[in-house]
Amino acid sequence: MFITVCGQKGGVAKTCTSIHLASVWDRQGKNVCIVDADKNRSALAYASRGNLHFPVYPVSAAAKASRGSDIVITDGQASSDEEELKHLAYGSDLVIIPTTPKARSVELTVELANLLNTLKVNHAVLIVKVDSRKQKAALQAREALQKFELEVFDGFIPLLSAFDKAEASGNAVYEAVDDLGRSDPRRMTGWSAYCSIASQVSCLISKHLSDTNNLSKQMPISA
Ligand SMILES: Nc1ncnc2c1ncn2[C@@H]1O[C@H](COP(=O)(O)OP(=O)(O)OP(=O)(O)O)[C@@H](O)[C@H]1O
Ligand SMILES: [Mg+2]
Repeated sequence: MFITVCGQKGGVAKTCTSIHLASVWDRQGKNVCIVDADKNRSALAYASRGNLHFPVYPVSAAAKASRGSDIVITDGQASSDEEELKHLAYGSDLVIIPTTPKARSVELTVELANLLNTLKVNHAVLIVKVDSRKQKAALQAREALQKFELEVFDGFIPLLSAFDKAEASGNAVYEAVDDLGRSDPRRMTGWSAYCSIASQVSCLISKHLSDTNNLSKQMPISA
């Protein structure tokens, strides 16, 4: 299974999403890896700080990564370059586009989804960094995305300082601790949110395959 996490906007948790989906599948015993396709090498830097239990490869080792793994997650860089995005998304079973509920992030997500539609690449939007005091904004963002007929994951990823702590120590969020080594009280809220997203992925891939098959059955056979 090939998953790509990408978007036009910076800082919308693309790397965080790649790391956490990989962590969930790794904990389920799946053979998973990340390919870091960002020039800043953020996923590689994240991994180098701690002890993630799955490999993170530079993009130059993508072939090796795909040979040895059941699930390959490509962590893309923020880009509005159409060619670069096409190149990233091509061949993916699912492209995940993380967006915050903010208007500009939602607009850029719709733009990217339109491009992926023209390429016939399966994609779904993940709403991230949702402030628990501003759930309404997240619900409005979901409605706006669904008006454009975009597939949106059920549930949100909450805005939690536990994610920053996990990033600083190079671990998954369920291991997040503060400077004094105390476990973050909300770490499992962040972890459960990504567990729920991971559980929806295969369903979204099967749904797309069956929609594509049904569509091709409906196409008239040319003489
Ligand atoms: N749900 C969250 N709550 C709070 N902070 C978060 C959350 N998800 C990610 N972050 C933090 O936001 C920052 C940006 O996240 P991340 O690096 O994953 O984004 P990105 O989209 O990959 O950025 P870039 O465009 O630079 O590659 C990081 O410091 C990360 O720890
Ligand atoms: Mg990144």
